[in-house]
Amino acid sequence: MDRIIIEGGRRLSGTVTISGSKNAALPILASSILTDGVCTYTNVPDLRDIKSIVELLRHLGAKVDCQGSTVRVDASSVSVHEAPYEIVRKMRASILVLCPLVARLGRARVSLPGGCAIGERPIDFHLKGLQALGATISMEHGYVNASARKLKGGDIYFDVPSVTGTENLLMAAALADGVTRIGNAACEPEVVALADVLNLMGAKITGAGTPEIVVHGVKSLEPVSVSIIPDRIEAGTFMVAAALTGGDITIENVEPGHLKGQIDKLAQTGAIIEATGNTVRVKGPGIIKSVDVKTLPYPGFPTDMQAQFMVLMSVASGLSMITETIFENRFIHVSELKRMGADITISGNSAMVAGVPSLSGAPVMASDLRASASLVLAGLVAEGTTEVNRVYHLDRGYEKMEEKFRQLGASICRVSQPKS
Ligand code: EPU
Repeated sequence: MDRIIIEGGRRLSGTVTISGSKNAALPILASSILTDGVCTYTNVPDLRDIKSIVELLRHLGAKVDCQGSTVRVDASSVSVHEAPYEIVRKMRASILVLCPLVARLGRARVSLPGGCAIGERPIDFHLKGLQALGATISMEHGYVNASARKLKGGDIYFDVPSVTGTENLLMAAALADGVTRIGNAACEPEVVALADVLNLMGAKITGAGTPEIVVHGVKSLEPVSVSIIPDRIEAGTFMVAAALTGGDITIENVEPGHLKGQIDKLAQTGAIIEATGNTVRVKGPGIIKSVDVKTLPYPGFPTDMQAQFMVLMSVASGLSMITETIFENRFIHVSELKRMGADITISGNSAMVAGVPSLSGAPVMASDLRASASLVLAGLVAEGTTEVNRVYHLDRGYEKMEEKFRQLGASICRVSQPKS
């Protein structure tokens, strides 16, 4: 298993280019199943999760060609309706093929994704929504079976906004007979990106980006050529790195409109942020001010940035309260940060972070994707050497992270452990 070794304490400066968004690319790649031809996607990040969805699409019968950041999916020969456990267990977002398969083949059998390190993560909203569109659902042997000769428009309301739930049901509704209304829908930019792609394919979706989405079903969808939107979480991670190291980083290929919640919080810490066109420049403050953070659905502060922001607060000048409202177990990074000298006390879904003058490098264990990113950030600012183990989590969602940090002046390298 690979490890990342970091010698901390270097101020980061220079320019970094952000890759395409993982969480936009996944549903968009899955939406190819709704078409009968070749879809071409550019700016697709080279990540483990993308490899997993490609493996799944190939398993379903699609022909997928990956050349650098361009991925072509020919779904005309999709004929397999089962997403097996061996693939779904590697990536929960495999559930995103459920609705496209039912819309395309009239049935789907998808392994239940189960929980993960950050929480239980049920898929009941996806299933209830699909039922509201006329599908019959049953569970057996750890699989969900869904079938519908023809999906029909219906009314769906989420108890809380679900990102992949909204995406899955948009794909079902796009080819359903009649009108579907999704209430309390997720407003994340990745949902809008998928709706834009579906509309380009010929779907009739209005209201994406608001809590009320209306879909007028159409008979068929056409293949498209599109570029994937920039990854707002990767961008946010580099923004925090600039603030954390007192650095000066110009972050290119971003959509500043998607970063408002993060820019606002970071500005409150004293960082100077300039957004122009598709670029954001972040200059770190001399003294980092402590601020409170509460994760919320978009446009609130993203849960996917909570761990990284906690590292910044760990070396800030006072007390910060970080409250996680999306996932019930998303503080797994805390015990590792404490081993590096952070002063953090968890109470329920809040963490009280008392800033310390410095962190000290240590061997640490990555537990999930964003927790891993936070440990790398902690290593960048810590005194001495940090060794981040189990970095395969990082490879699920960050493209060439250590290379990008090295270009900004970090002392960071990957060590591949020979398999014993
Ligand atoms: N929820 C339910 N039932 C459902 C679906 C969701 O109770 O059927 C609950 C969840 O347990 C959670 C809340 O609703 O409390 C919101 O979860 P959501 O469904 O929005 O999460 P998701 O769609 O599974 C996506 C991202 C996550 C990101 C969350 C929140 C993808 C592939 N994943 O997950 O990304 O944290 O939205 O923004 O888009 C990551 O990239 O590291 C990551 C975990």
